Amino acid sequence: MEIAPITRYDKTLTAPPDKSITHRAVLFNALSGGRATVYNPLMGEDCMSTVECMLRLGIDVETDARGIRLRGGQIGSAALDAGNSGTTMRLLMGALSSRPGNFCIDGDASLRRRPMGRVAVPLEAMGAKITLRRGCAPVQIEGADLVGITYRSPVASAQVKSAILLAGLSAVGVTRFVEPVVSRDHTERMLRRMGADLTVDGTAVAVRPGRLYPVDVTVCGDISAAAFPLILAACVPGGRVTVKNVGVNPTRDGVLEVLRNAGTAVTFDNFADDGEPVADVTLTHGDLKPFRIDGAIVPRLIDEIPALAVLACFIEGESVIAGATELKVKESNRIDTTVGFLRALGADVEPTHDGMIIHGKGYLPGGGTVDPGLDHRTAMAAAIAMAASKRGGTLLNPEVCAVSYPDFYGDVL
Ligand code: S3P
Repeated sequence: MEIAPITRYDKTLTAPPDKSITHRAVLFNALSGGRATVYNPLMGEDCMSTVECMLRLGIDVETDARGIRLRGGQIGSAALDAGNSGTTMRLLMGALSSRPGNFCIDGDASLRRRPMGRVAVPLEAMGAKITLRRGCAPVQIEGADLVGITYRSPVASAQVKSAILLAGLSAVGVTRFVEPVVSRDHTERMLRRMGADLTVDGTAVAVRPGRLYPVDVTVCGDISAAAFPLILAACVPGGRVTVKNVGVNPTRDGVLEVLRNAGTAVTFDNFADDGEPVADVTLTHGDLKPFRIDGAIVPRLIDEIPALAVLACFIEGESVIAGATELKVKESNRIDTTVGFLRALGADVEPTHDGMIIHGKGYLPGGGTVDPGLDHRTAMAAAIAMAASKRGGTLLNPEVCAVSYPDFYGDVL
């Protein structure tokens, strides 16, 4: 796909539904055994992987224009395909460890390279029977009786946290998960709404065994998808964008903090909070200054780092991204892939052991070709970089963005 440079950006659009919340609404309602509807679900490939897995497990799922209707039932042994979706694989590991039966969960070439030991180790400490291949998928699970533990995770990870909390719902005693920094808390919010006995104390979450009650969920817009038009508007002089219905959960909103600190104006309208806070977010371009990302903010913007690295190229001076080794285990090694595509477009950027340093020139020459492989966010970050650059560029495998944002090109560019 040829992406032409733009010189003006003035748009109003609606954020696509949140990927993390759609996965959880489908999976948790399926586990509840009852009937519920997920309204405004993300129909991206990742969430469809979760839906497919539910069907294979024996859950009744119907999808139509109004949403995804689920009727839970007996879950039985199955071979499952999580596709490109780490959330599907890791949350299912936690959910299935205590279910009678044998389960196999596999994924695509990208997912097969991602670490699953970070979920298997604490689950095994609870009594789960899990077999991995060299720490990765395919994952084999034989349902077992679990006991609650206190697990201090070396990484801040909502996927690991969610897996352990789901396992804790059917373990004996209390299950506690402690992380170094708080990661996104959609699981805690939704499990509570579904009746779980769950308490949060700083970076520690504890859950007691109990059943879940089905609840209808209306999914808000995805800040990780909204980040692309917001950052594109920040890169284009005079740019302005309003993205409607963006989830602004404080455990996910680090990108807005960086955008404000970098000198853009970010304002909220129509703020509402029905379990998850949402707002219409408007960004107006301003005089930009370099930024530094490090420490506790990292989990609050981990998926937005490739796009924020693009922004840094449009700011004169040195911007630094540090404390982000987790980037290495995403859909690609996002330190390498981000440095790679920015260099292909003429940026001066160096990788570091835990991030990158961007020597911004205030513009990006563009003109190169980028292959994002199986990484949707690399594709979308490269696409906005090309659009904001002087000469545009060529994006290979552009359809990979359907993993999380099927209408990306029509909506954003
Ligand atoms: C997600 C959590 C994050 C994020 C991923 C979605 C989730 O991963 O990068 O895209 O839905 O829980 P980690 O929790 O592994 O950091």
